[in-house]
This record gives sequence, structure tokens and C-alpha cells, in this order.
Amino acid sequence: MHIVRKVTDNLYWIGANDHRLTLFENIHPIPEGVSYNSYLLLDKKAVMFDTVDWDGCRQMMENLEFVLDGRELDTVVVNHWEPDHAASLQVVLNRYPKAEIISTEKGFMLMKQFGFHADGHKTITVKEGDKTCFGEHTVTYLEAPMVHWPEAMVTLDLTNGALFSADAFGSFKALDGKLFNDEVDYDRDWIDSNRRYLTNIVGKYGPHIRKLLNKAAPVLDQIKFICPLHGLVWRNNLDYLLDKYTHWASYEPEVKGVMIVYASMYGNTEQAAQAIAAKLAEEGIRNVSLFDVSSTHVSYLIAEVFRVSHVILASCTYNLGIFPPMLNFLEDMKALNVQNRVFALIENGSWAIRSGDLMYRFLDEEMKTITVLNERVTVASHLGENQEEDLGLLADAVADSLRG
Ligand code: FEO
Repeated sequence: MHIVRKVTDNLYWIGANDHRLTLFENIHPIPEGVSYNSYLLLDKKAVMFDTVDWDGCRQMMENLEFVLDGRELDTVVVNHWEPDHAASLQVVLNRYPKAEIISTEKGFMLMKQFGFHADGHKTITVKEGDKTCFGEHTVTYLEAPMVHWPEAMVTLDLTNGALFSADAFGSFKALDGKLFNDEVDYDRDWIDSNRRYLTNIVGKYGPHIRKLLNKAAPVLDQIKFICPLHGLVWRNNLDYLLDKYTHWASYEPEVKGVMIVYASMYGNTEQAAQAIAAKLAEEGIRNVSLFDVSSTHVSYLIAEVFRVSHVILASCTYNLGIFPPMLNFLEDMKALNVQNRVFALIENGSWAIRSGDLMYRFLDEEMKTITVLNERVTVASHLGENQEEDLGLLADAVADSLRG
């Protein structure tokens, strides 16, 4: 049975939702699923924009055949060759032997690397600014290297204003019948999934996203639909989405707020984290979140650190080092280019307390444009009643920095 949504005249969403996959890229939990978006334009030529992951192949093929309604498929534009989108291309090519393929030079290189058999299919290599006319619709291509792989491009339909944006503007979370941003409560139900996708999948490539946004700036008024490869299609309020992307891609916090991340073996470091959270509340700081680094997948921590301005790390010392899950969080922040944040530290240990110095050294030497506040709370096994003042000084320093 087909499950198709009409995007606009002659343009259809023919993708698939996936609730079976538990880990996206076999690393990021997706408890609310994910969608693989594929689009079909019926013009003089029938043109498909990207395919889907293997998991969605059967659904996509039923959708494709339903919309084509006996027509041949003439063209497949492949904006991105990562297998969550291109894996099903071979099935499409086998079913439609006359289909030509449009992609970038690096795209076709990846096509060969992944072992696709396109013998007999015409391949058309396009580059920045090239145009293709499919009948009434003419599209142009913008190269989008490292958003999210080097071969990526986006395609703008100059006739109806649909931007096929590849991974840009994508999101975790299955569509489950919905398609458009105005069919959901985005701020309540979607933004967290959108942020977690962007920051974990493409967060490292903020400069490349900014470059793409700058490149798109002159044609922004022509964009009527943003059609990404995952998640919602945007058809209004585009400025809102672009503003969020600008923050994420610039590593600028969305809000003034504090995330407290603790690494605790027996609850004593957790207690210190809870104590500082209470102090901040007493100081009138309302936007505070608290996470156990051992039980929170690091992708959620990354999303939150992109959202807020301030971070308090509280870690026990483990094998004379930083508690491993906390070190993993630090390494992930470094890998994803987190910057422009203020940190404060709480350390714990029963002897040779070293986690504070080691976390400081990591933040100072391994990451970019990070401020670490001088005030630090040191816990020897268990927070003492006589450490009220230490906590107060740290809370004051964080609050002053937030208000500054
Ligand atoms: Fe959704 Fe980079 O693939």
C-alpha cells in the first residue's frame, strides 16, 4: 500500500518512516524513529530526488510506482550518497532501466565505491550553478561539501521554490503521517529532535553549514519549501528555522542557561551536582538542567550543550583520570567543535583528586574559545557541611557570568 503526501503541484513525498532502527548510524538512539525522505516530481520528465535506506525500500518503491502510475522514471537526482538515502538506488535502477542519474563528480565516485551497478544508465555530472530543465521545472545545484559528506549538494527548483536540502535542515523523529512544519507543534514536539540530529550529525561542520547558508542567501526569497532528507518539510516560517540553524552552525547558545553534567560512582558527586543546582535555583537561575553522564546517551548531552551558554562538569577521579563517560563527553564536544561556552568544575576523589585539573586541561588545551571559571568545588569523597561557602562561591560565579 502506498503512503504518499503531496508537497505541492506535481511534487510528492514518497519516502518512508523507520521505527525499527534503534541506533541511527549504529550510534545515536532514535526512540521516536526517523524518516527517510524521497521526493518525486512529475514534469515532462519524472524526476526522483534521492532514495531511502534499505529499511524503507519496499515502502518507497510502492510509493514510487503508485505516483508514476505506469510512467517511466526518467531521472534520479542524488544529492547525498550516504546509504541512509542512496542504499535503495540500485533497486530503483533495476526497476527503471532508462533512468538517468544526476549527481556531483564526488557523488559518482562514491557510487562506484559503494558498488552500484549503473551500466546502461546515463550519468550526468553537475557542479555549482548548473541548471537542468525537466519540462516546466528548471533546477539549479549548489554544492554543499561536508553537509554532511564531501559529495553533497542541494537542488533548488527555480519553478516552484522547492529546495531539496539533503541532510541540511534534517531531523530525527519519524513523520508518522505528518509532513509539514505547520502540521506539528514544532517547539513542543520537534525542536529537540532537530537539534540533536543537527548537532550530532553535522555539528562538526558548522563552517560548512554557514557557507551553504551564505550561498543560499541571494536566493532565499525564491525558496518556498525546504525539503530535507529527514524530518519535516518546511513551507512557512522559514526565518525561524534559519535562525536556529545560524545559532547551531555558529556555535552560539540559543539561551542563557546552565547544564550540569555529573559523573558519580556512589552518589557523592551526584550530591554535589544536586547541591549546586539548588544553589543556582536560590540565586534565581531558572534555566538549569542536570544529567547523569553514565545514563544519558552522549548525543543528548551534545544537543543540550549546543542549546545553553554555561556548563558545570562534576566528575569523580577514576584510575587517576577523568571518569570514562565524562571523558567521552569531553572528547565528543571536541570532535563536534563545541566552542564559545563558559564552564565551571566540581571534582571528587578519595585520594589524589585529579579530575578537576584534568578537565580544566582538556577544556583549555583541546577545545576552542572556552572560558573556565576560577571558582571550583573540590570534594574529598563526600561533600562536607563546611563546604556551603564553596558551593555558594561557585553558584555566585556562574550566576554572575550568566547575567554578565
Ligand atoms: Fe542522512 Fe548524511 O545522511
